[in-house]
Amino acid sequence: MENGTIKRKIALTGDRPTGKMHLGHYVGSFKNRVKMQDDYDQFILVADVQALTDNADNPAKIRANILETTIDNIACGVDPHKNTFFIQSMVPEIADLTIYFLNLVTVSRLIRNPTVKDEVNQKGYGQNIPAGFMCYPVSQAADILCVKACVVPAGEDQLPMIEQTNEIVDKFNALYTATFPRVKAIVPRIAARLSGTDGKSKMGKSTGNAIFLADSSKVLAEKVMNMYTDPAHIHATDPGHIEGNVVFEYLDVFDNDPKGLGELKEKYKAGGVGDVVIKKRLIEVLENEIGPIRRNREELAQNSDQILKILKEGTERACNISAKTLRDVKTAMQINYF
Ligand code: TRP
Repeated sequence: MENGTIKRKIALTGDRPTGKMHLGHYVGSFKNRVKMQDDYDQFILVADVQALTDNADNPAKIRANILETTIDNIACGVDPHKNTFFIQSMVPEIADLTIYFLNLVTVSRLIRNPTVKDEVNQKGYGQNIPAGFMCYPVSQAADILCVKACVVPAGEDQLPMIEQTNEIVDKFNALYTATFPRVKAIVPRIAARLSGTDGKSKMGKSTGNAIFLADSSKVLAEKVMNMYTDPAHIHATDPGHIEGNVVFEYLDVFDNDPKGLGELKEKYKAGGVGDVVIKKRLIEVLENEIGPIRRNREELAQNSDQILKILKEGTERACNISAKTLRDVKTAMQINYF
């Protein structure tokens, strides 16, 4: 994956295969991966080991979503010829690196990781946090460092992970020999902050407020028709609010006609535009964008052997690079006995 003789910078990003991907993933990460794929040697990790840290009782769910997650990426234009897709559990060096890195962090630091803290609260673990779950930021550092990536495109919620990775890099390089580059996060502008259809929180895989890339036209239309708008806008003639109105938030992101949209907003604010009008516009805009992705998905799903081949070849490449990294690590630590 070299561009002529110029070696491209290595970027790595990943998804937990825990469920269907939605519009938030599309605007917050997949689109950005497509934008980066010509300029970076980009690795896309299917993070099944991380997904198991809070799904140990349901590995079948994770297994089923490995293909789905990969299909979602490719259907959105993340090109398997330009990117390396690989499966976390199939690269044993990641587990090896995790073990060595665990000695470079403290338990109190792990518990203070804001992302882990939020998730512990969401899941209601209380004092019963699975150790693997608490430690997943360390294995995430190993995901990133096994291929010596220096760039990680990720949502804002992932920034504490990058911070923790850099602490591990600094500690490792200082204790042993300089082995790893520091890592830089790239947070895309929309960074997965898309609100859910209920307007209450961020769109989530399991919060019942998502529009999935796999949704049919009918389901998509139903979800838009039920979207949160402006509760004070009861009659078409009432003046309406734009701020906090999810339909307009989505139109701002997806509508390619800013002039027409500007005029519609003015009319809506003044009173005289019903919610059905703005929702119909959004259905059309989303259908134009997601329709082709849905059709790609269906086609790709017919060819699961091809998807598995992409994952297998990518995993082989990741394994080769990671084996070299692990050798560097053992040399730096002087545990390369024979
Ligand atoms: N933690 C990420 C998420 O929940 C997934 C992930 C695993 C990841 N390993 C990674 C992201 C390495 C970036 C880099 O979405």
